[in-house]
Parts: sequence; structure tokens; C-alpha cells
Amino acid sequence: MEQLSARLAGLSPSETLAMSQKSNELKAQGIDVINLSVGEPDFNTPAHIKAAAKKAIDDNYSFYSPVPGYPDLRKAIVEKLKRENNLDYTADQIVVSNGAKQSVCNVLLSIVGPGDEVIVPAPYWVSYVEMVKLAEGVNVIVTAGIDQDFKITPAQLEAAITPKTKALILCSPSNPTGSVYSKDELKGLADVLAKYPNVIVLADEIYEHINYVGRHESIAQFEAVKDRVVVVNGVSKAYAMTGWRIGFIAAPLWIAKACNKLQGQYTSGPNSIAQKASVAAFAGDQSCVEDMRRAFLRRRDLIVKLCREIPGVKLNIPQGAFYLFPKVDSYYGKSVDGRKINNAADLSMYLLESGHVATVGGAAFGAPDCIRLSYATSDENIIEAVGRIREALAKLS
Ligand SMILES: Cc1ncc(COP(=O)(O)O)c(C=O)c1O
Repeated sequence: MEQLSARLAGLSPSETLAMSQKSNELKAQGIDVINLSVGEPDFNTPAHIKAAAKKAIDDNYSFYSPVPGYPDLRKAIVEKLKRENNLDYTADQIVVSNGAKQSVCNVLLSIVGPGDEVIVPAPYWVSYVEMVKLAEGVNVIVTAGIDQDFKITPAQLEAAITPKTKALILCSPSNPTGSVYSKDELKGLADVLAKYPNVIVLADEIYEHINYVGRHESIAQFEAVKDRVVVVNGVSKAYAMTGWRIGFIAAPLWIAKACNKLQGQYTSGPNSIAQKASVAAFAGDQSCVEDMRRAFLRRRDLIVKLCREIPGVKLNIPQGAFYLFPKVDSYYGKSVDGRKINNAADLSMYLLESGHVATVGGAAFGAPDCIRLSYATSDENIIEAVGRIREALAKLS
């Protein structure tokens, strides 16, 4: 008999991974599915990073690493934060983990307890709310619709803060919307937070380098909040290294120590070979990052242009990441061949089964009016996929 803990019973499976799996199943049946549901670059890891990993194997980096990561990797991260973000950290404020996903979870498990509130702006990355639940915290969802480019305002933030607020999770550039907070917008939020010294900010900057508006801005740059911002970042998106599983936090020392302690009992230090590869990523030639950013920008322009031509679809112009998050609720309530589309999940399933394009319904991101399209794929795939979506939607009446 299954005897799952309440903790697990309350956890939702990842809808993004589920959609990818369903699309792979259809592909295995020989159906030509175009997968716009994935959250990873379609590029291979750059050669100099792979070479560093091969060397690490030959140099016998096959033993346990220190729990928070090798000193040279933490040093490379400290230097990256100074060089690219003008942020000052010491190596003992850095904890390297098995992907930014573990970094976020480490922080939440370290600081959130039963009944503590965590402010999560919606649309949000699917895992935040589940991780808050794992930590027995309470999600306080603050919704920012497409009319405000999916970004919360200082007034919305202030209205959500209570004496129980433990943390705010801020993701910029954002998954799933591609929205990017400007320096002024971040300053507005920091000014509010300055009045509430107990609120910790978890700044998820994993899409830092996939930014179409210029320099990345971190909320950690503002003095009033700097000593309670935890910056989360990693190699997955910028260096096309999703499978290598390396992420990090740059945090106040007390949070870094807590995550180190948690990780020491739970997973130990992350993969030694991947850590050495990540040193090459952070300290090596950065031209690969710019090459990939340009490719994503070209695809962003392409998918926006094509989707604009679809009737009944409302778009924001994503300024970062590799997702488009169109509002599609004008199709809810419509039908084809006796099949009624009631919500985003129905629409996403219809697009997969009828149009053979995999997307993800917005409900999983706290935005049931929208669906997410990932454009981390070739121009040909984007053109074909949007054509299929357009055709499938045109059949609904
Ligand atoms: C917003 C956001 N944060 C964190 C992650 C996790 O990245 P990693 O591969 O480093 O675990 C993802 C991955 O999809 C993401 O979209």
C-alpha cells in the first residue's frame, strides 16, 4: 500500500516536464511533433567547456569536492559577480549546487518554516510554489497581468507584505514571460523593501545573459537591501549546460552557511567534473554567450512577428529569456468536432494532439489565460510550429 507523506501528497508534478514527456511519446510513435515546451537552449555546450571537463577526468577530479564547491569555482564566481554585475562577494558567501533549482530549494528550506509567507509574483516559474510548499510555507501570489508586462509594481509588493512575510522571489529575466525589470523598476521595489528589513529577496537571475535590452540589472545593487538579497544563477541557460547541473547562490554569510549545512547532509558538493567545466564557463572566453544571445534575439523577433498575425492572441514583447507567453483566453469556450476548449490545459493538449506542437498551459505558471511557447529551437521549427498553431486555432469556433 502506498503511504506517501503529506509533504509529497501535496506536491504537484512539474507540468513542463510532463508536457515534454508527452511530446516525446508522440514522437516515439512516429508523429512529427515540434516541441516548444522545453526550457533549455538547443545549442551544444561550447567546446572549451567540454575540453575542461575532459581534462578534469584525466586529472582525476573523481573525489568528493568541498560541500559548497571547489575554491577555484567559487573564486571564478566571485570574479564573475564583480566583473559582470559590479557586486562584491567573498568566496564563503558562494554555495554551488546541483543546478539553480537546488540553489532555490536550499534557500527556501533554510529560511522558510511552517506558516511563513513567501511573496511569489505571478506568472511564476512552476517550481517556486512547490518548493515553498515543501518548506511548509505559505505562497502569497501577487498577480501581474499582460497589461503591466507581467511585472509587479511597488504598490502591489507593499500591499502583500505582512508581519509573516519571510521572502520575496523575483525572477528577471522571467520564465515564463520573458519580462525584464529595469533598474528603475527594481529600485522601486527595493525602496519598498527598505521599509521591511526582515524580508529576504531571492533574486533568480538564471536568464541573466539572455537579455535583449542591454545590461543585466540585479536588485542586489541597491545598498538598502543588498545584505538580504540572495542572488541565484548558474551555467544552465547562459552556457547551454542544462544537463551538467551547476547552479550557485551568492548570499549573506548566514544563509550561505545554512545552505552549506543543509547540502552537506543532503547531496554533498555537486558533480566534480561539472564544477571544473563551470570554471571554464565563468572564467573563459565569453563570446559563446553573445553568439547564443544573438540567435535567441533573432528567434524572438521571428516568433513575435508570426504570432502577431494570429487573430485573438495578445502578446507582450519578451525582453529576455527564450519564452513567449501569449494571452489566448479568447479561444476558451470554443469547440471543434465536439471537443470544447475550456482552459489553457485543454488548449495546450489540443495544440499537441491536433497541431502536433507542444506548448505548456499557463495555469502551472499561475496565469491561466496564457500558454508558454519556448523559442529555443530553429527558425524552421518556429515558422512551421506557429503555422500549425494558427491553423489549429482557426478551426475553433
Ligand atoms: C526561472 C528558473 N530558475 C531556475 C531554473 C533551474 O535551472 P538549473 O538548470 O540551473 O537547475 C530554471 C530552469 O528552467 C528556471 O527557468
